[in-house]
Amino acid sequence: MTEPSLYDRLGGAFAIAAVIDHFSDAVVRNPIAGQGSKDPELDEWSRNDLGRLPGLKFMRTLWVCDISGGPQVSRLSWLRGC
Ligand code: HEM
Repeated sequence: MTEPSLYDRLGGAFAIAAVIDHFSDAVVRNPIAGQGSKDPELDEWSRNDLGRLPGLKFMRTLWVCDISGGPQVSRLSWLRGC
């Protein structure tokens, strides 16, 4: 019997999307990687580019679904080595 994929063990796309949603909001509020970051581009993005956040959540979800063995295909698969 083959072991279930990481995607299945995580609970599939809906569970992954819920975690990405929560994580992405937390990163925006985080003073190291988000608002208040010493990196001016991260600080700027987290304050003034939040209209891009839903799209970023979508891409992060798609990518994690892909690399964890789900049926979704992301063109960011080349990031598998990260
Ligand atoms: C806490 C660490 C990280 C932060 C704060 C962060 C932040 C961001 C932000 C704000 C964007 C959106 C830029 C835009 O408006 O288009 C972005 C995009 C992206 N990030 Fe990250 N990132 C992090 C970690 C990573 C890591 C570890 C990887 C690689 C494994 C990665 C790969 C990418 C890629 C490929 C995109 C572009 C997606 C696309 O436009 O298709 N990031 N990141």
